[in-house]
Amino acid sequence: MLNVVIFGAPGSGKGTQSELIIRKYGLFHISTGDILRAEIEKHSELGTTADMYIKEGKLVPDQFMIEILTQTIEANLTAKGFIFDGFPRTLAQGEALENLLRERNTNVVAVLNLDVEEDELVKRMLNRGKETGRSDDNLYTIKNRLNVYNIQTEPLKTFYRKKGKLFSIKGKDDVNEVFESVSEVLDRLAFKTRK
Ligand code: AP5
Ligand code: MG
Repeated sequence: MLNVVIFGAPGSGKGTQSELIIRKYGLFHISTGDILRAEIEKHSELGTTADMYIKEGKLVPDQFMIEILTQTIEANLTAKGFIFDGFPRTLAQGEALENLLRERNTNVVAVLNLDVEEDELVKRMLNRGKETGRSDDNLYTIKNRLNVYNIQTEPLKTFYRKKGKLFSIKGKDDVNEVFESVSEVLDRLAFKTRK
C-alpha cells in the first residue's frame, strides 16, 4: 500500500490537492473533516457531538477520531493506498496511525506539508464561507482553528521530520502549480499511476 498524509493548516489546500492526487495516483481519500460533516448532516449521535467541537474550532477528542479512522481503513483494505487528509492532528493520532498501519504491514510513505502564510489562509476560508456557507468558515472559528493547529497539530511536523518523511511544499501558488510540486515528490518516491 502507498500511504500519504496531506498536512497543513486549515485552508492550506489539503482537500483541493487530495482531489488531484486521487485522480493521478488512484489513492483512496480519507478526509476526517468530510466524514464528520456527513455525520452532522445525518444528525447522528457522533455528528451532534462533533458539531459542538467544530463550531468552536476545537478538535474532536482523539478516541472518536481514532475509532473512525480504524473503521474506514478496515472497510477499504483493498485500496492501493490511502491519502489521509485532516488526520493525524495530534501526536496521539500520529502514534495511532503508525500502529494501525504497522499492524497491517504497511506504513506512511510521505507527509506533504502545504506551507501557506496565515493572511492567505484567513482570506481563503472567509471566501469559502461566503460561497458555501461552511459553518466553521467565520472569523471567530477560523482564529480558533488556526490557534489549535499551531498548538496541537504543528508538533507533528517534528514527529514526521525525525522519521525522514516530511516534505514541505510551497502552498501559496495557484492550485496547478502546487500540484506540480506535490507530483514531483510523489513521482520521486516512485509512485506511478497503475490503472
Ligand atoms: P477539516 O475539514 O479537516 O478542516 P481544516 O483542516 O480546517 O481544513 P479545510 O478543509 O478548511 O482546508 P483544506 O486544507 O482542506 O483546504 P481546501 O482545499 O479546502 O476539519 C474541520 C474540523 O473537523 C476541525 O476543525 C475539527 O473540529 C474536526 N476534525 C477533523 N479532523 C479531525 C481530527 N483528525 N481530529 C480532531 N478533530 C478533527 O482549500 C481551502 C479554500 O482555499 C477552498 O475554498 C479552496 O478552493 C481554496 N484553495 C485551495 N488551494 C488554493 C490555492 N492554491 N490558491 C487559492 N485558493 C486555493
Ligand atoms: Mg479540507
